[in-house]
Amino acid sequence: MIKRIIIALVFPFLFIHCRQAPTPPTGLVTEKAMVVSAREEASKIGVEIMKKGGNAFDAMVATEMALVVTYPFAGNLGGGGFMVYRKADGDVGGLDYREKAPLAAHRDMYLDSIGNVIPGKSTVGATAIGVPGTVAGIIAVHKKFGSLPLEEIMAPVIALAEKGVVVTANQEKRLASQRDKFIEVNSDSTKFATVFKEGDVISYPNLANTMRRIAENGRDGFYKGETAQKLAVFIQENGGYVTEEDLEKYEAIWRQPVIFDYKDIRIISMSPPSSGGVTMNQIFKMMEPYEISKFGHNSEKTVQLFTEASRRAYADRNFYLGDPDFVDIPLDVILSKGYLNDRMADFSFDKATKSEAVSHGSVEIIESMETTHYSIVDAEGNAVSVTTTLNGAYGSKLYSDELGFFLNNEMDDFSSKIGVPNMFGLIGAEANSIAPEKRMLSSMTPTIVERDGKLWLVVGTPGGSTIITAVAQTILNTYEFNMSMQEAVNAPRFHHQWLPDMVIFEPEGFSDELKEQMKAKGYIINEDRTPIIGKVDAIRVLADGTLEGGADKRGDDAAVGY
Ligand code: DON
Repeated sequence: MIKRIIIALVFPFLFIHCRQAPTPPTGLVTEKAMVVSAREEASKIGVEIMKKGGNAFDAMVATEMALVVTYPFAGNLGGGGFMVYRKADGDVGGLDYREKAPLAAHRDMYLDSIGNVIPGKSTVGATAIGVPGTVAGIIAVHKKFGSLPLEEIMAPVIALAEKGVVVTANQEKRLASQRDKFIEVNSDSTKFATVFKEGDVISYPNLANTMRRIAENGRDGFYKGETAQKLAVFIQENGGYVTEEDLEKYEAIWRQPVIFDYKDIRIISMSPPSSGGVTMNQIFKMMEPYEISKFGHNSEKTVQLFTEASRRAYADRNFYLGDPDFVDIPLDVILSKGYLNDRMADFSFDKATKSEAVSHGSVEIIESMETTHYSIVDAEGNAVSVTTTLNGAYGSKLYSDELGFFLNNEMDDFSSKIGVPNMFGLIGAEANSIAPEKRMLSSMTPTIVERDGKLWLVVGTPGGSTIITAVAQTILNTYEFNMSMQEAVNAPRFHHQWLPDMVIFEPEGFSDELKEQMKAKGYIINEDRTPIIGKVDAIRVLADGTLEGGADKRGDDAAVGY
């Protein structure tokens, strides 16, 4: 009896600050397979495909397409994205189906005659549209790894588009906030000029027809023939640049992901033209020498260290990174140990390092979460991590009523003018200047983490420039601070991106005392705006092989599995 009491008292303390302790799950736990995405209906469709015998890649195709119907805010046919995968046998890879600049694009296309950026031209309407990559992406995935016929995978999505999707309270708000813009860009005859209320059902018969052409003809069902022709005409009639030739030429590209070790975990994330993997690699390596589990979650020291690592990593991101098919990126240098040690040589817990030429206040960081991420694990242990986007909320706001989908405003992710911030406040450089057929730099960070050589986490988020820091903090929450997947996803987040030189904290979870202490050390705290940072959807593989979902409480996100 006494022995049992001693064990009961002592046992929990053995695990304090011990990263090896198995953290009990608090999110949905399922035995075999799971999808976590921005809408329950989309997660369900992905899971149904796996129940029918499909693998995680079939489920990727189904979920990506289901998000077009259920989450037009970011789910898309008219945008692009990135996928990182890890097969059950340990093979890893990445797919780049990022949009690219049309053939007619050129470096100064968003500047006026005296060289100033024309407001709105890269963000609103047809001039902002890059050549969409999503359909090429799902078809490439299906060709390489799919196990069910495309038509079978698309069938439940097409049925849902016909039947319609119930508007949630969040969706009602999002649609209402953009309605004036929809009318301005499309005229008041557009579908989304209608005021939709919570509980209404929106159906998409024209989108169902577009999807049927994809189901029947694959890539050619979108990039050639009726859809391509209608799409190109529609974009050009609205003043945009994308042609049938642009559509026909578009290809998704398989890329080697960025792979690095942090202490005893291995992180696999997206490579350029996404900055996600490289920037996260730099942040983690700059933090690695410290025992941050002892500092405590969101403690002053942890926040400072993370902020200083992010400041330096984003400065490199903005200068060096771009489309690797167009620019040479010195990855071997900027990811090397010596270089990163040097970058942190002037770091001290005593005071903030200053980002040069601070211009905070003149730069706004958009706070909405317009991209979307989903994570999938199947019964065999294959894992898929996908982030996909139209860029801004409903992209360029240009909606093809005839085809049933929104078009991206991804061209704003290029650097329209060197040194001038984009809508996420990111300051671009030459490496990310516009050129025909070039891909614009992204922050999307679909990521997979291995522990002891086995699949451990599948994780990612929307959030523009804050994506990278939100993914990094979620990983640290599980690994260093012993949180369950759901706790790690829900935990309050903060962000710093070099310029503007300010630390942004989410509205809840950070004390005034912490902020005062940081101010005393010279940190500039953003006090005007306290946006939500990221909307993470993740999966953790537990020690017994079951899966724990982490569906972000910040949205309508849902984990579904069996
Ligand atoms: O690729 C990128 O980095 C951006 N287009 C992502 C946009 C995004 O996450 C919007 N959500 N806030």
